[in-house]
Formats: sequence, C-alpha cells, structure tokens
Amino acid sequence: MIIRHADANDAHRIVEISQQDGYGHPLDKESILNYMKQGDIYLIAEENNKPLGVAKLALNEHAELELFVILVKLDEQRKGLGSKLLKKIEKLASVKGNALVLHVRVNNNKAIDFYKKHGFSVVQEIADLYEKGDRHYKMIKNL
Ligand SMILES: CC(C)(COP(=O)(O)OP(=O)(O)OC[C@H]1O[C@@H](n2cnc3c(N)ncnc32)[C@H](O)[C@@H]1OP(=O)(O)O)[C@@H](O)C(=O)NCCC(=O)NCCS
Repeated sequence: MIIRHADANDAHRIVEISQQDGYGHPLDKESILNYMKQGDIYLIAEENNKPLGVAKLALNEHAELELFVILVKLDEQRKGLGSKLLKKIEKLASVKGNALVLHVRVNNNKAIDFYKKHGFSVVQEIADLYEKGDRHYKMIKNL
C-alpha cells in the first residue's frame, strides 16, 4: 500500500472512492479538478493501482488549515489506513501552520471517535454549515 499526492489524472479514482462507500457526499470530478487548480492537496492511498482511500487538505475561508475529506473504502476500514492518511496530512499541515481543523457531523460517531483518538478536540457546534438543518462539530488539533 502506498500513499501519494493525487493529481488531475486521479480525479476519477477519487470520485470512485467517494461513490462506492455510501459516503453520502459523492465528490464530482469537475469540483476536484478546480480545487486541485486552487492548490488543495489530495492524497490517495492505493494498492496494486486500486484506490483504497483519499484525504484532502486545504485552507478554508477563515484561512485555517482544514482536513476537508478523509475517506477509506468500507471494506478497508479499521485496518489503520485512515490513521496513516491522517498522519501524512498532519505532517503536510505542520509545515504550513500550527493547527488543523475539521468539521464532522454530530452523528458521525465513527469519525468522531477516530478524530478524538488522534488528539482532536471539539471546540464548537455549528448549525447549517452545508445545508439547512445540519449540525457539525468543529474539531481542532494543535500541531
Ligand atoms: C473515519 C475513517 C476515515 C477512519 O478510517 P479507518 O481506516 O477505519 O481508521 P483506523 O483503522 O486508522 O482507526 C483508528 C482508530 O479510530 C477509531 N475508530 C475507527 N473506526 C471506528 C469505528 N467504526 N468505531 C469506533 N472507533 C473507530 C478507533 O479508535 C481506531 O483504533 P482501533 O482500531 O485501534 O480501535 C473511516 O471510518 C471512514 O472512511 N469513514 C467514512 C467517511 C467519513 O465519515 N469520514 C469523515 C468525515 S468528517
């Protein structure tokens, strides 16, 4: 298994991962390509050329370093891959700043447990972040 920076040629693979897992927020190729042009960093984990996971690091509208996406294929979860992706994102982020933030839906217990295990703390609850009626926790880790 390797983790590497994804480029425009990987956009379809990233879409594929986001669709396969009932993630609920399928990513679309055009947006990914646009974000890549803006300088957002995508990492892809793969084995034998097969994508297993993806993560994205970018600056948010408040100029904070944010982990916008971390997603591991369902049948590859709980084997340490998410942790490896997160560690690599943290390393990249630590070169650019001293904290990493993220937003997670308040009912995504699996992800919340994952982030807490990795040293993130809830700092705020935010309503209507992406859609009216949704509720997210903002979590932060000092690097
Ligand atoms: C969150 C996610 C990326 C974690 O990836 P992963 O490869 O399964 O994580 P790891 O195997 O590295 O798990 C590390 C630790 O996180 C916690 N964790 C991971 N999955 C968990 C689960 N289902 N229930 C409780 N704790 C969990 C555990 O503490 C785990 O350590 P352990 O296995 O030694 O107990 C993965 O569950 C995922 O892709 N979920 C769907 C997408 C998503 O919701 N992303 C976050 C959106 S904000």
